[in-house]
Amino acid sequence: MKAIVLEAADKPLICKEVDKPVLAPGEVLVHIKAAALNRRDYWITVGKYAGIKYPSILGSDGAGIVSEVGSDQDIHWLNQKVVINPSNNYGDSDDHQGADFKILGLPDNGTFAEYVKTRVEYLHPKPVHLTWEQAAALPLAGLTAYRALFTKAKAKKGDKVLISGVGAGTGAFALQWAVAAGCQVFVTSGSGEKIERAKQLGAAAGVNYKAQDWAEQLKLMVHGFDIIIDSALGNGFAKFPDLCNPGGRIVIFGGTAGNIPPLDGRKIFWKQLQLLGTTMGTYDDFVAMLNFVNNHQLVPVIDETFPLKDAQKAVDKMANSSQFGKIVLQNL
Ligand SMILES: NC(=O)c1ccc[n+]([C@@H]2O[C@H](COP(=O)([O-])OP(=O)(O)OC[C@H]3O[C@@H](n4cnc5c(N)ncnc54)[C@H](OP(=O)(O)O)[C@@H]3O)[C@@H](O)[C@H]2O)c1
Repeated sequence: MKAIVLEAADKPLICKEVDKPVLAPGEVLVHIKAAALNRRDYWITVGKYAGIKYPSILGSDGAGIVSEVGSDQDIHWLNQKVVINPSNNYGDSDDHQGADFKILGLPDNGTFAEYVKTRVEYLHPKPVHLTWEQAAALPLAGLTAYRALFTKAKAKKGDKVLISGVGAGTGAFALQWAVAAGCQVFVTSGSGEKIERAKQLGAAAGVNYKAQDWAEQLKLMVHGFDIIIDSALGNGFAKFPDLCNPGGRIVIFGGTAGNIPPLDGRKIFWKQLQLLGTTMGTYDDFVAMLNFVNNHQLVPVIDETFPLKDAQKAVDKMANSSQFGKIVLQNL
């Protein structure tokens, strides 16, 4: 089969012929119609991720058709249109992932290929209102944003929510999910154009985090936020406690802009804020996210679609963060 292979750190991804995976009982082979990128794929290609091994086939997000099953008892999945849950071995706790947690696309080979092997429990029916590309865009970032907003921050109608770095794949989903839930959503972005896109998707307003006074601008717009969803950390994070309402929840799941700077801890205890970490999600989070997408007929925002063979071009685009929403690979 054709696959996109990472042969070493800082070497371009190459498209080559590799052996098709062999199935054990409980496993299935999915003929990938479309896959999508996450920041994780970029971090791995530049050698900045734990447990990198070479060669690897990256890709956590994929949608396609089940083409082989490893056991007769799973035969009903054959020819089914599916999306794959990349959050593997989450474990027994709903609160956090267990020691055996892993993400599809490292250590196991991922979706940037003609076929991917996964376990039957990670298959879910593809939402019928979505194209292959839209369905492939959903899993990792959609799940992470869903758990951050609903499972962790307990978002509800009327909450004032701030999404930082809305151009991110996760950021665009957090915006869409929060708007669909009836929250009043504000955003930050490093691009005025992306703030305008966010408004078209239902954001009330936004500010550019590159402006010196971005936090003051937000304070003038909103008295306080109930929820802040952030995947960047970095220096701007120090302003978040001040921007929160008493009882506010700040949920973090990434560090695109570095680490957390010194914070005014007094604001955190006096306002009784909660700082919540999250990572991807449980089986139940994934099912709830798909139900939410189906019930609200939500459509992921796709920035650009590349043919599978041009995966390196897609990663290069992610490197400079010029995208709004998801970058998708099509298996033509
Ligand atoms: N723990 C988990 O389960 C989990 C899951 C998914 C992602 N993540 C992490 O979350 C982060 C986002 O992932 P992704 O796939 O959505 O990435 P992505 O699509 O590549 O988005 C990156 C975005 O970060 C934003 N950004 C950069 N500097 C910023 C700053 N100083 N302040 C606010 N935003 C800033 C930019 O938003 P603008 O374009 O709007 O400026 C940029 O588009 C990554 O660090 C990723 O590793 C973690």
